[in-house]
Amino acid sequence: MIISEVNYVNFRNLADSTLRFSPGINVFYGKNGQGKTNLLELLYFLSAGKSFRTKKTTEVIKNGKTKCGAFAAYTDSIGEKKQIVKLLEGKKEFLWNGKKISFDEFYGKLNAVAYIPEDVVIINGAPNYRRDFFDGEIAQSDSAFFTSVKNFNNLLKIRNKYLKERIYKNDEFSIYQNEFVKTGARIMKTRQEYVRVLSSILSLNYRKLFDNTKELELVYACSLGNIKKKSPEEIEALLREESGRIFSREIQCGYSLTGPQRDDFLFYLNGCEARTTASQGEKKSILFSLKMAEMDMILRNKKEIPVLLIDDITSYFDRDRLYSLLQYLEKRNIQIFLSSTEKLQISAEDYYVEKGRVNPGRGCLDRRADA
Ligand SMILES: Nc1ncnc2c1ncn2[C@@H]1O[C@H](COP(=O)(O)OP(=O)(O)OP(=O)(O)O)[C@@H](O)[C@H]1O
Ligand SMILES: [Mg+2]
Repeated sequence: MIISEVNYVNFRNLADSTLRFSPGINVFYGKNGQGKTNLLELLYFLSAGKSFRTKKTTEVIKNGKTKCGAFAAYTDSIGEKKQIVKLLEGKKEFLWNGKKISFDEFYGKLNAVAYIPEDVVIINGAPNYRRDFFDGEIAQSDSAFFTSVKNFNNLLKIRNKYLKERIYKNDEFSIYQNEFVKTGARIMKTRQEYVRVLSSILSLNYRKLFDNTKELELVYACSLGNIKKKSPEEIEALLREESGRIFSREIQCGYSLTGPQRDDFLFYLNGCEARTTASQGEKKSILFSLKMAEMDMILRNKKEIPVLLIDDITSYFDRDRLYSLLQYLEKRNIQIFLSSTEKLQISAEDYYVEKGRVNPGRGCLDRRADA
């Protein structure tokens, strides 16, 4: 996918503007605090409809304003598309080729993979960060999975409410219970399949890009135990059985104790869990390999190449490693957006960000903004 043009109004500290991009590598240069990450966040916002650094999307609205909006013109393997995301009075609005669409229809249309320094939370953080991350990545190319996760989260809320209020002895509860098990099992099966393929690509990437003496493995730690060889029906039966077995404890606690909301995803480097044993540099390398593998998964499942966003590229690796990775990226035929405080020796379209203004570089039009 190639983003050819964006236009934005009231986005963080950025001055309202229109920008055109190169189909190759685009670099946003600037000193600290000028708006480089905000510009990358804007591209992510146009792809995912949310921020990559906060759950509170309204934070992206410029201080003192009540709404913001962004427009992107992009091409995928079929042709040119136009997408608009607006945030007003806490509500989001999505337009695609001039037509208003729901978030469910919007998500996954314009694919982007972002690598930001805060991503280390995927390794170091609590399991919910990993579940959100992997579910979001699977959903980029699987809209049925997106729907399952959304439905499951609703069912979980309802089930927990019934358990908490101890009103589980009615027909309604057994209908929800049945759906809870079915949807939960479907999510587990999809996660298992996704990780099976992703883990082998991840391992190859790590060897190729960082250390060919080490084995990197991603393990899906399903709360039901090892489901690798189980069919969807068997997983469903297992979840039903487990749910029955611990039901009395669930009533005591007042919430659900089994299901995909209790799953985790673990990284192992040479057999040791990365969270507790890998060095800072190794964690950054694992994450970079992961992001490259995510790109491959979207290509594999959707036949589209996502755009790649990398924030503060010089902050991750030493100089030699940085340039070998940049050479690797230059050879890949993908559109990339980088931000950096230091000039990089690569062939790219340059943009200079200063106090929210995106200056010269051939791509900057800095005209009216009417997203
Ligand atoms: N909603 C907002 N409205 C106005 N300004 C904001 C908003 N959110 C953040 N900012 C400001 O935007 C500025 C630029 O932030 P950004 O993170 O993009 O900087 P940067 O160029 O990436 O810097 P660094 O090199 O330090 O990472 C910050 O000074 C921040 O205070
Ligand atoms: Mg930054």
